Amino acid sequence: MTRPVRRAAVAVIGLAGSGCGGPHSAFADPASDAASAIGGLWWVLFAVTTAVFLAVMAGWAYALFRRRPGGTDGAPGVEPEGRSLLWILVAGGILPAVILMGLTVATIRTSERIAGGADAPGALLVEVVGHQFWWEARYPEAGAITANEIHVPAGRPVRLRLTTNDVIHSIWIPRLHGKIDLIPGRTNELLLRPEEPGVYRGFCAEFCGLQHALMGLRIVAQPEQEFARWLAHNAGPAETAAPDPATGEGQGVVDSRVAGEALFTRYDCHLCHRVRGAGFPEPVGDVGPDLTHVGSRATLAGVTIENSAGSLAAWILDPHQIKPGVRMPATPMPAAELRALVAYLEGLR
Ligand code: CUA
Repeated sequence: MTRPVRRAAVAVIGLAGSGCGGPHSAFADPASDAASAIGGLWWVLFAVTTAVFLAVMAGWAYALFRRRPGGTDGAPGVEPEGRSLLWILVAGGILPAVILMGLTVATIRTSERIAGGADAPGALLVEVVGHQFWWEARYPEAGAITANEIHVPAGRPVRLRLTTNDVIHSIWIPRLHGKIDLIPGRTNELLLRPEEPGVYRGFCAEFCGLQHALMGLRIVAQPEQEFARWLAHNAGPAETAAPDPATGEGQGVVDSRVAGEALFTRYDCHLCHRVRGAGFPEPVGDVGPDLTHVGSRATLAGVTIENSAGSLAAWILDPHQIKPGVRMPATPMPAAELRALVAYLEGLR
């Protein structure tokens, strides 16, 4: 092999191999029974279709290169008619029918194993609403609302009740389950059973607009007690920007947060974002994520950027630099005001 050919081969094999592993893989590292079932079915389909492909290629090569039973003058002879018919019947009819029937049965069995939602006793209900281009998560029993980071208890079934606020989206958390669409006017359900605590990456799997590729989510599976604490805290109102001697915050930080709280309404943030308990006027419509505890999230903007003061400031100033096509408008403001607003938001833990 020449060097470029060898390099290309290594690149292709490497890419193909890496596609089978990592945090997004349903094959290498499933973290739930449903993901294992889907991965298992995939390997069965892969093995059978590979075998069929190889068999067809072998038959094709045989037909091309065999010596035909010829006439005496070297012209190609004619296959005896009975044998041809038998070949067509067996290889072209019976065998494919048997193989396809087998795969159909395997697929239906897998679908039955991973389906269900209503029959999961003790399941936690989470309402997930798709938006261009982020995920809203509501916990109707507790009254908590969050975005893009869906906390769930590990080891307990979780029913995701799926709707959309605008266009069709599709939720896909490869290590936990298959994908399912969020369709306008319809409610779908997905039953998750993460076995172990951990963070499972999810995506939008249906093209939904300019930022479809940056519509990410994280499923944060926590031990039951830790999750209960998270849920109780997130159901509660936002912390006020008042001084708290327990946190030992400097007066400067507190002043900054108090100023930032006033800026939240001055720059009309409240028209799209709710901060429960802050006493702002209610948002108009259902446009932006609930920010009541935004400071406690690890990421922002549909898992596009990490949640830090710097990236939050950049996001507020001009989100279109980070996510072109996003609904949030650019909001230019003096640096001192930006610092105060960011301090307020980061304080919403
Ligand atoms: Cu939402 Cu793609």
